[in-house]
Amino acid sequence: MDKRVMVTGATRGIGRELVRQLTVLGYGIFATGRDAALLESLKAETGCAGGVADLSDPEQAVGIYRQAAAELGQVDVLINNAGLNNRKAPVTDIELADWELQYAVNLRAPMLLCREALKEMGERKSGHIVNVVSTIAKTAQPNYAIYSAMKYGFMGFTKCLIKEGREKNVKVTAVYPGGTDTDFRAEQRPEYLSAASAARMIVHCIEAPADVVVHDLTYRPMVESNF
Ligand SMILES: NC(=O)c1ccc[n+]([C@@H]2O[C@H](COP(=O)([O-])OP(=O)(O)OC[C@H]3O[C@@H](n4cnc5c(N)ncnc54)[C@H](OP(=O)(O)O)[C@@H]3O)[C@@H](O)[C@H]2O)c1
Repeated sequence: MDKRVMVTGATRGIGRELVRQLTVLGYGIFATGRDAALLESLKAETGCAGGVADLSDPEQAVGIYRQAAAELGQVDVLINNAGLNNRKAPVTDIELADWELQYAVNLRAPMLLCREALKEMGERKSGHIVNVVSTIAKTAQPNYAIYSAMKYGFMGFTKCLIKEGREKNVKVTAVYPGGTDTDFRAEQRPEYLSAASAARMIVHCIEAPADVVVHDLTYRPMVESNF
């Protein structure tokens, strides 16, 4: 059964909704996040498996993939969803630590996870990797330089992975959600997509018929106009 899914960033927001929706559809889930209490509550709610890892640490990123593969038996679908935008500021105000954290979590960790997954999925000639990018990679605005740089990088990486995956019969999907009302930002944005709606579009890509690969999916709330 091609239904064993690893979801990063599953303790909150889009990732948490992904676990809820995929569990209902019969998928076996290994969920990851940093917040142990939130992860435990998700396990209790959905019956998913999971483990705590700080993805800013490359050893923990690779280690949690190994743990997911061991506990699920294998990872059929990897969803690289974890991410953050901790620093919205002019380039002149950005500190080295801001750059390094966003590189580590938004770009290095998902690249490492893709590498690990593609090795195994490529051997099996089957699998699906879904990378959660952002509509930020389709626009440009002041004060978003670091986050944009990492998401543009992730988009470029994923475009190459789509081609390498194709050679191994591994599906690769880049999703580009627009603004979503989650803990991602301090203020509430009820006019944005709900986390459930953002997750549902990702589920749609995973549930596509076997002879279909969705390479890119861009979706936005109607209020979003920066494209
Ligand atoms: N919200 C938006 O408007 C929006 C729009 C487009 C794309 N996206 C993308 O969608 C993805 C999910 O965002 P969201 O809105 O659901 O955000 P969220 O509610 O803030 O959730 C982010 C998730 O990422 C995890 N995470 C953050 N830093 C981590 C680290 N160092 N190690 C491990 N896990 C870490 C968090 O885990 P803990 O809390 O347990 O640390 C949490 O589960 C991100 O990649 C984001 O860039 C969001």
